[in-house]
Amino acid sequence: MITEIVSGLVSGLVQGHSPTYYQDIRPILADKCIVCHYEGGPSPFSLETFDLVRRRAALIQTVAMTNVMPPTDALSDLGRIAKQDALTSEELIAIQKWVRQGTQKGEEGEAVEPRQQAERVDGTLLLRPTVAAKVRSSGAPFWLSLRIPWSPKEDTLVKSFVIRPRAPFAVRQVLLARDDYELGAKRGAFETYGSMGIDANAFIGAWSPGYFDWHAPGGSGVLVRKGQNLIAQVLYVPTGKEEDGGFDLDLSTEKAAGSQRIARWMSMGTTQLTIPWRLEFQTFSFTRRLSRDVVVSAIVPEARAIATQIRLTAALPSGESKTVFKIGSWDRNWMGAYNFEHAVKLPKGTILKAEIDYDNADHSSFDPNVKTPTVHYGLGPNDEMCWVHIQYFESGR
Ligand code: HEC
Repeated sequence: MITEIVSGLVSGLVQGHSPTYYQDIRPILADKCIVCHYEGGPSPFSLETFDLVRRRAALIQTVAMTNVMPPTDALSDLGRIAKQDALTSEELIAIQKWVRQGTQKGEEGEAVEPRQQAERVDGTLLLRPTVAAKVRSSGAPFWLSLRIPWSPKEDTLVKSFVIRPRAPFAVRQVLLARDDYELGAKRGAFETYGSMGIDANAFIGAWSPGYFDWHAPGGSGVLVRKGQNLIAQVLYVPTGKEEDGGFDLDLSTEKAAGSQRIARWMSMGTTQLTIPWRLEFQTFSFTRRLSRDVVVSAIVPEARAIATQIRLTAALPSGESKTVFKIGSWDRNWMGAYNFEHAVKLPKGTILKAEIDYDNADHSSFDPNVKTPTVHYGLGPNDEMCWVHIQYFESGR
C-alpha cells in the first residue's frame, strides 16, 4: 500500500504536464469559484476570463493554499452542505504549478458560460422589507433585522425561498424567520449583532450567495399562520461605497392542508455561558438522543466573536460515528447558509453531540491597553451565544 502511494506520487511529479489556463485552471474555477466571482456578483471581482485570472494569479494561489477560498469550511459526512467543496489536492497542485510555471494560457477553448441568475419561477411570491436599509461605505460587517410584511390570507407552508439582493456584494447572509411576536412592527429595523433574539422555532431558513438555497423536503414546509409577517436578519458587508441594502424575497409556498410534514427545530446549547478572560480553550458540549427517525435539512449555529470551532456529530445506532456538521474555523463575519443539498436521514436512537469551542485569551497583546473581559451569554455587541439549531422533519409518514 505504502509503495503504491509513493510510486503514484513520484510518477505524478515526473510525468505531470505543465498546467494551462484553458485545460486545467478554468475548469477548477468554473466548478468552485465562478458561482461567486462573476461580473456584478457577490464577490469583489470576476474570475471569468484569462486576463482577469492571470492578474490575480498570486493571490489566487495564496487563498487556495490557505483554504480561505472557496469560503466554506462547513463539512459533513452525510451530504453536501455548501455548493463548493474545498479544493482537492490535485486542484491545489495544478494551481500552484500553473502560477509557478508562468500562468500559461494554453489552447483556447470555448468561453465559460456566463453565470445564469436563477430565473423567477411562476407562481412564487415576491416580498420586500419595509425599510430601505442603507449599507454604510466602510467599517466592520454588521447585522440588521428587517420586517417583511406578508400576512397570508390562510395558513401557508413555505417550501423554499431565494433572496435577490440589489447590491449582491453587500449582502453575505440572510436568516429568514416568522415574526411570531411582531418584533418588526414594534422595533422597526434594528441592529442585532448577529442574533435577533427570537425563538429558533420561528426560523424558516438561511440564504447566502454561493451556498445551496434553503428548501424543505418534498411534502413538507415551514408553517406560517394566517396574518403573520416575516422578519429577516441580514449580515451586511461594507463595500467601499454606500449601497442599497434592499432585496427581493422570492418565496415558494403552498396552502397548509394538515397532511404535510411541518419543519421543527431542535436547539442544542445553553444560555448559561461564562467564559473567563484569558481562558484559552473551553468546549461546551451537549448531547441528545433521537426518539424517532428524522430528516435534517439545515443547521443554524449561533455563536459570536470568540467561538473558534463548531461540531455536530452523530453516534448512529449501528455504532458508527459521523460528522453531521463541522465548521473548522468559525468566523462570524463569514456565515454561510448551512443547508443540505438533500436532507439527510438520522435514525431513531442516534445520539447527537453538539460542541462549540471558545478562546478568550487576550488576542490584543500587541496593545497592552486593550483587555478582553470575561464574556457572558447575551444579545449585546460584546456577548457570546452558544447554540446549534437543527432543522428537521419527522420521517416515515
Ligand atoms: C461563496 C462565494 C465565493 C466563492 C465560492 C469563492 N469566493 Fe473568493 N471571495 C468571495 C468574497 C465575498 C470575497 C471578498 C473577501 C471577503 O469579503 O472576505 C472573495 C475574495 C477572494 C479573493 C481576494 C482575497 C483577498 O485577500 O483580497 C480571491 C483571490 C478569491 N476570492 C479567490 C477565489 C477562488 C480562487 C475561489 C475558488 C477556489 C473563490 N474565490 C471562491 C466570495 C467567494
